[in-house]
Amino acid sequence: MGREQVGVYHILGGRRLCGTVKIQGSKNAVLPMIAAAVLTKEEVVLSGCPRISDVEDMAEIVRSLGGTVWWEEKDLHLNCAEIEKSHVEGALSKRLRASLLFLGSLLARTGEACLAKAGGCRIGKRPTDLHQKAMEVLGAEIFEEAGTIFARADHPKGTVLCFPKKSVGATENAILFAVGAEGVTRLCHCAREPEVVHLCRFLRAMGADITGEGTEQITISGTYGKTALSGCRYEVPGDRIAAGTYLLMGAATRGHLTLLNAPLDEMGAVLSLYQKIGGQYTRKSGTLVADSKKVQDAVPCVETAEYPGFPTDLQSLYLAAAMTLKGESCICENVFEDRLRTAEELQKMGGTLRICGKWIYTEKSRLHGADVVSRDLRGGAALVSAALLAEGFSVVRKTELIERGYERFPETLRELGAKIIVEKEV
Ligand code: UD1
Repeated sequence: MGREQVGVYHILGGRRLCGTVKIQGSKNAVLPMIAAAVLTKEEVVLSGCPRISDVEDMAEIVRSLGGTVWWEEKDLHLNCAEIEKSHVEGALSKRLRASLLFLGSLLARTGEACLAKAGGCRIGKRPTDLHQKAMEVLGAEIFEEAGTIFARADHPKGTVLCFPKKSVGATENAILFAVGAEGVTRLCHCAREPEVVHLCRFLRAMGADITGEGTEQITISGTYGKTALSGCRYEVPGDRIAAGTYLLMGAATRGHLTLLNAPLDEMGAVLSLYQKIGGQYTRKSGTLVADSKKVQDAVPCVETAEYPGFPTDLQSLYLAAAMTLKGESCICENVFEDRLRTAEELQKMGGTLRICGKWIYTEKSRLHGADVVSRDLRGGAALVSAALLAEGFSVVRKTELIERGYERFPETLRELGAKIIVEKEV
């Protein structure tokens, strides 16, 4: 879907979600892999890649740099043999935050990178200081002018870098740069998110020497002056946030769902919360059967945190479910400072909510249909969840934000019993 297109969902509420969903490949795991594909001149195939607009936008950036990208069924093929450019056009990099990951990979491949400050969901200030600082410590000269970052590195050498704050994207960027450096780089205070782990596994499949992923210390032995990275075929893992989304939508509507291809080992925090509110599930190698008929009680306090804590990306989806629970729920957003705007939209639907700094308090509310606007990708999905359980019709606007991250979203919900009409305007 092109960015100039805007979407609206018309939803009839009062439906339970029941049935089977095959969970898509992980958005946040695959986006850094696309940035990493520029590190090799050989072909990379990402099997089971989600067909979502964020992936199309990253693919567009690779094409604009001189690479070739094409789909074969669910496999995304990338060939970056001809990459010469190191300048990502502003209009492209502004489409999504993950474009920032080309900073590390282009520096490693071409010794230069130039890109406009990235866009993405408006969920806080989203600075890039940790990314830029990391590139500097790893040997790049970097400066910023009129919102564009310019970076150059003639001969990057391995070093020790300790992040002052944990960041998923900055950890990924540093890894992408360090694989092209000479010698050993030790990264300390790294993000431990599964997406960082998947990026390291992917790079290892390309021949990189990396250890320690999933811990706070990652060690990379760079390829400078050694054998270049090769192409590979890699299976994109299931999306833990998409799986958590459907699980919480099932909870909100008291449905019964079977989730196939769910990365259950990465979903500890959301599964534990689901159980606490009364959800029942059985799990067997990637399949989760979740029965929400006994979902009932509020959990006094849920706080978002870095992995393995409760993910910030599921905060608004839990909020939609919390408005159906008995007792007061309190949710604390610790990761992004401006990720509570969905709560204001939920108030339009009759949600009893109180926002106090980074805290939201809510209680059981009788939701009715309303005209609401997606404020960010996950928040948009949360509005859909609320619309599904509300009485009457809702209109959810700016659904192009939702489709940045969820594959076949309205179609999947329809298959689970939702009544949704999609309207698209160019
Ligand atoms: C990634 C995910 C996003 C998820 C987030 C946290 C992708 C494409 N996106 O985003 O879905 O919500 O991790 O799990 O994978 N920060 C700085 N300076 C920086 C960078 C970040 O201060 O240079 C701050 C951020 O404002 C935020 C915190 O660090 O408060 C964590 O952000 P970070 O882990 O970097 O998130 P992203 O990688 O942008």
